[in-house]
Amino acid sequence: MTRVVVVGSINMDLVTLAPRFAAPGETILGERFLTVHGGKGANQAVAAARLGAEVALVGALGDDAFGTQLHEGLAREGVSLEHVARIADCGSGTASITVAEGENHIIVVPAANARVTPAQIERAQSTLASADAVLVQMEIPLDAIEATLRLGHRLGKPVILNPAPAQPLPIEWLKLARYLTPNQHELAILLGADADEDFRSLMQRAPAPVVLTRGGDGAWYRDGGEPAHQPGFKVDVVDTTGAGDTFNAALAVFLQQGLPVAVRKACAAAALSVTRLGAQGGMPRLAELEAWLAHA
Ligand code: RIB
Repeated sequence: MTRVVVVGSINMDLVTLAPRFAAPGETILGERFLTVHGGKGANQAVAAARLGAEVALVGALGDDAFGTQLHEGLAREGVSLEHVARIADCGSGTASITVAEGENHIIVVPAANARVTPAQIERAQSTLASADAVLVQMEIPLDAIEATLRLGHRLGKPVILNPAPAQPLPIEWLKLARYLTPNQHELAILLGADADEDFRSLMQRAPAPVVLTRGGDGAWYRDGGEPAHQPGFKVDVVDTTGAGDTFNAALAVFLQQGLPVAVRKACAAAALSVTRLGAQGGMPRLAELEAWLAHA
């Protein structure tokens, strides 16, 4: 069984469905409100577990009711929570999400996620040492991201850095990643480049191999040589929240099958994920993914 360690955020997603996005200063009526489990780290952990991996999550929850619900949800999915801290007198992370016009707007309040520390990553050393792949995103403090990259590299593990939400990072850190998995916008920010620069040229000069997500257009990937394209799969889109997380999880789970296969399966898993509501709502199980791919 593939072993995946995810270092990242855990949020309660507060989701409002609306006919359109409100303008600044405007109030409109929404159609529906729901609370669903999310956070990029938790989403990637759940997606990898549903795809058949043995998954451990390193992160932090508050000692509030959301923290308890999120903890129970992750445990139900079979994610190992030994390295998820419960922070006293602290709220759990939240994401206020508006879904409208086939897109989403998200505001994350990190709360307990801001309390993930390099020391906590070091304490998870033996867990990382047994991993086939390590996933980390950017909703936790920068020093914890750096610690994950350094420890994963020291242990000789492939670390996939999903730079979302993006901010510029030191080139030395990026070089420690086995793969960077941004979209075009995130890659430009990560490299401090012009937003209009062609994504292929951004990929060429990135300091680590890039798997670049392009929404419905699939993904481009480059591991030395010229960039290659995996077309997207056509589906009816209900909610794109969590599509990137599903993509990253599948990439990690199937990496040992070679990059082209892993990217194809990641695009397929992400496509399935957007056909249902909620970040974790549409994440496929392995059997569903394999059956769908057999007819795609
Ligand atoms: O990637 C989707 C996730 O981003 C949501 O679940 C939300 O919690 C934010 O972290």
